Amino acid sequence: MNNKTILITGATDGIGKQTALELSKLGHNIILHGRSENKCKSIQKWIEENTESDNVHYLVSDFSRLNDVRRMADELKKRFVKVDVLINNAGVYMNELKYTDNEYESTFAINHLAPFLLTNLLLDQFNDGGRIINVSSIAHTRAVLDWENLNAERGYDHYQAYAISKLANVLFTYELAKKLEDRKISVNALHPGVITTKLLKTGFNIEGASLSEGAATSVYLASSPEVEGVNSKYFVRCEAVESSPDSYSEENQKRMWELSEQLFSL
Ligand SMILES: NC(=O)c1ccc[n+]([C@@H]2O[C@H](COP(=O)([O-])OP(=O)(O)OC[C@H]3O[C@@H](n4cnc5c(N)ncnc54)[C@H](OP(=O)(O)O)[C@@H]3O)[C@@H](O)[C@H]2O)c1
Repeated sequence: MNNKTILITGATDGIGKQTALELSKLGHNIILHGRSENKCKSIQKWIEENTESDNVHYLVSDFSRLNDVRRMADELKKRFVKVDVLINNAGVYMNELKYTDNEYESTFAINHLAPFLLTNLLLDQFNDGGRIINVSSIAHTRAVLDWENLNAERGYDHYQAYAISKLANVLFTYELAKKLEDRKISVNALHPGVITTKLLKTGFNIEGASLSEGAATSVYLASSPEVEGVNSKYFVRCEAVESSPDSYSEENQKRMWELSEQLFSL
């Protein structure tokens, strides 16, 4: 699977940045995404210097602004036409309650609504054999889904906000896989491990494993022939494992999809 075009969101730091470097080393064309043009430029330069690749591009979009996600999708369609792999990696841990301009709770908006919207807007751009990879977290197993409080109107628990957004990533994976049954596109989710990054520091103030370890499952799912056609699974350390019981609830999958879809009139 050489020379694929791979879009990695949140590729300006942590796991996404490392994933971009390693996939570039394997010879793929990389589209970095970040919210800061300066950071995108400097990661582009860093990857080009470390891989001798001249096939590293970038798209800038702030995922807390859903109109910016739409603009990014339009720009991608004009500049690159087709993609083979989308890695929905960008994410935040918000210790304090913050609303986006559209008045969505930021964790839910950035971690779930933005990739939900981006992926849906790009569905027609995938080549056959396309792969969508959603970077979730083992934290999804701790989520207690309170449908009435997804926007934190009845109180904000930062850990639950993060865990629910990561459960939403898995629910989205399974529902999208059903919707794409007739297309040659696979959708899988993963937990990258507990990895030293600024998100881990912000949320948990602990040290974790290396960035290479954190990128390994994303790189595997994006590039390995072993997972050709493998669909609707949740991976940890490059192996398909069970996700939480709540994530397998078809009612939850459908409800999360419909709720997200309503927001965008897709
Ligand atoms: N680290 C862990 O132990 C761990 C464990 C489980 C799951 N994860 C998941 O792994 C993924 C990557 O996290 P990480 O640990 O590598 O975190 P990180 O180092 O903080 O990187 C997060 C990336 O997301 C981008 N981002 C944040 N807010 C954004 C926004 N509003 N718009 C656009 N981009 C935005 C960041 O951009 P900037 O560079 O501008 O900040 C950065 O590129 C996340 O989905 C996270 O939930 C991480």
